[in-house]
Amino acid sequence: MSKLGSETIVSGWYPIGVSSDFPSREKPVAVSLWGRKLAVYRDSQGKLVAVSSVCPHGGASLLIGDVEGSNLICPYHRWTFEAGVCTMVPAQPDGKVPVNALLENYPVHEDANSGLVWVYVGTTLADDNKPPAAPFFADKQFRCVAGQTLWQVPLPLVAENLMDVAHVHATHAFGDRLYSRVEPYDVVRGAWGGSAQVEYKLSETGALFMPGDRATRAGLTPIEVTMFFPGAILVRFQSGQYQLAVFTALTPETDSTTRLRYFFFRNYFNKGPEPYLKVVDFLATLNIARILKEDQRVVETIETEGQLPRIVLRSDAFPAFYRELWRKNGLAEAELGYSVTASGKQPLPSPMRGQIRTYERFCRRSFA
Ligand code: FES
Ligand SMILES: [Fe+2]
Repeated sequence: MSKLGSETIVSGWYPIGVSSDFPSREKPVAVSLWGRKLAVYRDSQGKLVAVSSVCPHGGASLLIGDVEGSNLICPYHRWTFEAGVCTMVPAQPDGKVPVNALLENYPVHEDANSGLVWVYVGTTLADDNKPPAAPFFADKQFRCVAGQTLWQVPLPLVAENLMDVAHVHATHAFGDRLYSRVEPYDVVRGAWGGSAQVEYKLSETGALFMPGDRATRAGLTPIEVTMFFPGAILVRFQSGQYQLAVFTALTPETDSTTRLRYFFFRNYFNKGPEPYLKVVDFLATLNIARILKEDQRVVETIETEGQLPRIVLRSDAFPAFYRELWRKNGLAEAELGYSVTASGKQPLPSPMRGQIRTYERFCRRSFA
């Protein structure tokens, strides 16, 4: 059995925030990803650029550098980088720039509907490989409240929790603990991840913040969970005409810390004067925060040192599928260019690394 979380990094699109986190300004924004800092800024066209933040000249942090037009300038000797490539070295009398003066340049996708900003980590990226187009954001029938929280848990264990259809009756107040069976379900596999459908018996307390009469509560409520590998999960409940959906985007800030950005959509309690809507939004936020706290309380206790114990049952099919994908998509140590357990960390790989032959020399000279 192999370990998860602190031992592996997988390639894929990672959410790093929303558009408003990256206003146009003269300084880059620091983003933590897998324990590294990325410098993220807008170029002269307003397009987001995400690069590794350690200057290949002398190792100064570009996070305190300046953004001028499309250039990111190191604060130490003013080497100037455009899209990760050094274009100017002021101290060179002949103006020559070393060919290996490069930053990793990560593909960025800023989604027009959701405002979510994603970066891609990995050595190759196919043209049709895009981050998930999150549903509901553009659907006017749904009102959305958003929030975020930080868990001291490796990303794969957070993802597995959000798609763990078997824990709901046991862990959450909105599930009826007396009814804990999970009928066998199929995992529908796709290039983007997978999905599963099950049914829950909701508790009488109304703890799900979803309307429904007693007849509805007495029956089973269908739920659909969709996982976009490696770090986005959509959970959708349907009770008659009422629909509730939670889209959660996961950012692995370090090996053992994950930020959850959640978006809670509802197609009810969404008409009326603004003060009323604000009160309902507040209650919805409290509700989703409480549900996530119920998860966090348990998941933060999972022992991640050593080998993870795991007895996989039929009802664990969806998280087990995630674990399988995680193993298949892990980046090899050679791609990372460093030992993943070492404390000295080189930048995460970008597709730029595969394109530039001098990269190895760059690594040796800059980080040896
Ligand atoms: S350390 Fe960045 S230019 Fe010298
Ligand atoms: Fe949960």
